[in-house]
Amino acid sequence: MDKMIVSGGQALRGEVQVSGAKNSALKMLFASLLAEGEHVFHNVPNLADVESASKLLEALGSKVSFSKNTLRVTTAQRKATEKNAAKGDYELVRKMRASILCLGPLLAKQGEAIVSLPGGCAIGSRPIDLHLEAMKALGAEVELREGYVHAHAKRLRGTSFLFEKVTVGGTENMMMAATLAEGETVLENVAKEPEIGDLAEYLIKMGARISGHGTSVIRIQGVEKLRPAEHTVIADRIEAGTLLIAGAISKGEVTVKGCSPHLLEAFVGKIREAGFRVDLTENSMTVFPQKSWKAVDITTAPHPLFPTDLQAQFMALMTLAEGTSVITETVFENRFMHVTELMRLGADITPKTQVAVVRGKPGCLTGAPVMATDLRASASLVLAGLAAQGDTTVNRIYHLDRGYEKLEEKLSLLGAKICRRA
Ligand code: UD1
Repeated sequence: MDKMIVSGGQALRGEVQVSGAKNSALKMLFASLLAEGEHVFHNVPNLADVESASKLLEALGSKVSFSKNTLRVTTAQRKATEKNAAKGDYELVRKMRASILCLGPLLAKQGEAIVSLPGGCAIGSRPIDLHLEAMKALGAEVELREGYVHAHAKRLRGTSFLFEKVTVGGTENMMMAATLAEGETVLENVAKEPEIGDLAEYLIKMGARISGHGTSVIRIQGVEKLRPAEHTVIADRIEAGTLLIAGAISKGEVTVKGCSPHLLEAFVGKIREAGFRVDLTENSMTVFPQKSWKAVDITTAPHPLFPTDLQAQFMALMTLAEGTSVITETVFENRFMHVTELMRLGADITPKTQVAVVRGKPGCLTGAPVMATDLRASASLVLAGLAAQGDTTVNRIYHLDRGYEKLEEKLSLLGAKICRRA
């Protein structure tokens, strides 16, 4: 199993380009199930999760080719008699929770879907009850049997649906399903993440009639048929934030290019509050070296507030701040698994279930072997390693490969001493 070795103490310098957003690309790949023919996606990151989604699409009868960040999916016309035509198998789905996003498109297009209950990151129980409730509201019959969701409906019917809790995946699944439903669907209390907006833009190119994305109410007028389209995936704001922290924590000067700071306002606000100078242009962010920085509190919440996907990385930065920072995680119930690993590097943190108190101390980190437990936790350990004295070995970095394209190459180009070993 690959590990990453980071030799700390190098101030990073230079410019780095952000890749396309994993969380946007994956959903669009599943949206391709809604229309037969060739879909073309540009700026798709080359990641293990994209490979998993591609394999799932292939198992569902699509042809997929990927070259230089352009991914082409040809969705086949399916005969009603084909066995397993609409089945998301356990072996393919368990690797990635986002696979549940094939449920809505399959159901809407094929009238039936059999999708394994998902796996993915071990951050809390992460139920899919709201996805299922949403499909039922659209008129589908849904059953759970032997680890699979079985859903069918001759044709989905438009409906009004209020999400009990803000859910990114739930919003996306229902939005995709409703594009082919009969009549109007109104979704309330939806998530406003930019990746949902990007997915909506793709669906609109396919002929869907959607409005209100980016606000808390989305309206969808169902259509009879959609067509394939071509789209460029938006930048990965989480990668952008991670790279900005890499600059900050290493006391370097790093320009992160290709991502609108507008997607990261709450995050940039907190980095500035900690005392860093961050200069912004329409499409870039530059962080400047700071000898020491202040502890600040953060509370994660759905967009546009502080993203849960940057909580672990921000915590790494706070371990070296002057003062005490309170980090509150409200989106997931078990997202402090990086804490014990950061403590192995010398951080002083007390975690409770959803709150962690970080007693920052400049220079407190020293290299040690650590274990990555989920995608963003892995990133936080690499960041801590950049600032620690000596070598940090991050084990189990396959998590990192699920969500960061060429991270070690990008950090190396900025001057980090980082390498991968088998
Ligand atoms: C997506 C992102 C993930 C990010 C998260 C929150 C992808 C592939 N992943 O995950 O990186 O951390 O949004 O920004 O885009 N919930 C339920 N029932 C449901 C669905 C969700 O209770 O049916 C709960 C979850 O357990 C969690 C909260 O709602 O506590 C938010 O989850 P959700 O927004 O759905 O996250 P994902 O779409 O899985």
